[in-house]
Amino acid sequence: MVTQAEEAQRDALAERLFGAALGAYELLTVHLGDRLGYYRALVEAGDSTSAELAAATGTHERYAREWLEQQGVAGILDVDDTEARAEDRRYTLPVGHAEVLVDRDSLAHLTPMARLGVSLAHTLPAVEDAFRTGGGVAWDEYGSLGREAQADANRPLFANLLGAEWLPAVADVHERLLADPPARVADVACGAGWSSIAIARAYPKVTVDGYDLDEASVELAGASVAETEVADRVTIQHRDVGDPKLAGTYQLVTVFEALHDMSRPVEVLRVLRGLAADDGAVIVMDERVADTFTAPGDEVERLMYTYSVLCCLPVGLADTPSAGTGTVMRADTLRRYATEAGFADVEVLPIEHEVFRFYRLRG
Ligand SMILES: C[S@@+](CC[C@H](N)C(=O)[O-])C[C@H]1O[C@@H](n2cnc3c(N)ncnc32)[C@H](O)[C@@H]1O
Repeated sequence: MVTQAEEAQRDALAERLFGAALGAYELLTVHLGDRLGYYRALVEAGDSTSAELAAATGTHERYAREWLEQQGVAGILDVDDTEARAEDRRYTLPVGHAEVLVDRDSLAHLTPMARLGVSLAHTLPAVEDAFRTGGGVAWDEYGSLGREAQADANRPLFANLLGAEWLPAVADVHERLLADPPARVADVACGAGWSSIAIARAYPKVTVDGYDLDEASVELAGASVAETEVADRVTIQHRDVGDPKLAGTYQLVTVFEALHDMSRPVEVLRVLRGLAADDGAVIVMDERVADTFTAPGDEVERLMYTYSVLCCLPVGLADTPSAGTGTVMRADTLRRYATEAGFADVEVLPIEHEVFRFYRLRG
């Protein structure tokens, strides 16, 4: 017999999953609006009917109308007159919503999460296979959507916080980056290059070498760098940073949200230790996960485990041998990797962020 407590538990989970499903489906429609340029067109036009939106974006009126109605019902768009004929209704993207949906530089920009969701769903059959075989799924298989989602999700953080708050919080590193002789920075696993660009912008004397294993990311980064005013001080190279032949002497070595993805983190850390000058710093930014396994966990922990199951663990296991770290790389795990790589100490830096934690590896 089902007890009252069990019924309440059943209803709570059913309600929670229903909400999650609704949110997931609405997120897909947000992705569609992003890809089709609907949100941007609405910002440019101020307000639009379905015919105007369709004409502005080169899409079909009947589809545009359905999407506009759905977005109105979902409370994402404002509708001027719900009682008007469907074709005559005018839709507006409220200013606050526009920042979330179209402002790539805003810390509130969230369409990359929708993009990532689509990439994760698209790659799910390969992940399902990997669960059965024990194999992995290469980062490349997450495609341009995954790569661009990753890049665009972190881009506003780097653009707004890396040079303005995060690095200045590490006083000796900040001073060295401003000083002469000009410092050299290795931005390891730089992805689409936004961290490399942000460092060069914040510190006008430094040169930055960005390295990444993913060829398409390197291309993306190279193209982004070329369009900036710091192109003469930032180079992006296609390299495996676990390669012991990687040479150079750097006053700062950074790894942003990438160590947990690497199949051989100890080898990589050993290389990074060798790249750092005697007075150089190695800084790792990774997910702010709890120190120990706790269930149920908070939202950050829940988010990171979804990333881990759907992406980071399969990516890490795509190479053999692999440490099989996954997104939930706890501080103790990093300390173990760092010690095995020859570092003497790992310091958690006093930088506050909801999702990321910063470590300085010393010695
Ligand atoms: C989650 S992405 C992070 C990219 C970027 N740092 C950011 O914050 O957007 C992880 C990156 O690590 C790179 N990567 C993984 N293993 C690597 C290795 N051994 N050498 C160089 N890059 C590597 C991947 O190609 C990918 O671009």
